Amino acid sequence: MATVRVNPLQRLWLREIGIDKTWLRAPAPGDAAAVPVPAGSAMAPAVEPPVPPAPVAKLAPAMRPESPPARPAKAEPTVVEVAAPGHAGVEVARRVAGQDLAQLEREVFACTACGLCQGRKHSVFGEGARPARWLVVGEAPGEQEDRRGLPFVGRSGQLLDAMLASVGMSRERDVFIANVIKCRPPGNRNPKPEEIAACSPYLMRQIDLIEPDRILVLGRFAAQALLGTDATIGTLRGRRHTLKTGQGREIPVIVSYHPAYLLRSPSEKARAWQDLQLALREA
Ligand code: URA
Repeated sequence: MATVRVNPLQRLWLREIGIDKTWLRAPAPGDAAAVPVPAGSAMAPAVEPPVPPAPVAKLAPAMRPESPPARPAKAEPTVVEVAAPGHAGVEVARRVAGQDLAQLEREVFACTACGLCQGRKHSVFGEGARPARWLVVGEAPGEQEDRRGLPFVGRSGQLLDAMLASVGMSRERDVFIANVIKCRPPGNRNPKPEEIAACSPYLMRQIDLIEPDRILVLGRFAAQALLGTDATIGTLRGRRHTLKTGQGREIPVIVSYHPAYLLRSPSEKARAWQDLQLALREA
């Protein structure tokens, strides 16, 4: 196994996110998902990953709980066009079409487009830099996020902040953090298709307005919803996808594990680190 050198600052953050140096490995032959960790600098990876050919897929949410990674059996769709909103989202999409971020935020705070509004303390619009270099997309607010009205403020959020810091990013300066779903599903259950349909126009408008250079999408649910696929996270991560927006922009999308999953399965943090490196390379 190749030895990987990291600089002292990197080492501090890698320790913070729980990655021991021995977890960082160069890819084994035939290991398509593994990306080499750069020697010396967190910002300058040495080797470009292969970018597979890109068929077109439509946005079609699918939901399954996080599961252990699987080796890709085949290349899944990597170029996604933002599809017309589903029935529940048509009215929302029409309303937000011309809105700026401040108007959109007010719209989300007052939203009653699906039943989730009945149980929420706060809707969670998202927070961070505007415009932002990266847009990080999670699933939906949890209990603490619902209480505070901010994304990723619990333990997952602490890990996410440390992961971002390990690649020189912060939510104040570089990154906007949002969720596919803006209101907490009761008991943190998986969002329903009609809830995703109703809420998706908000995320799509956020993407248009925040104009990120790339999107880092966290966890199976968010990746499947954004990329319109039911592919496993193991087939989706480790390579670049592209989101074609309604405005004709093409934004690289990198899929990684949800921080909550990483807290449960710390040995996967090394792969998450590889995903961050891949996202950096797409700069
Ligand atoms: N998990 C998410 O996906 N989003 C949050 O905002 C918090 C936890």
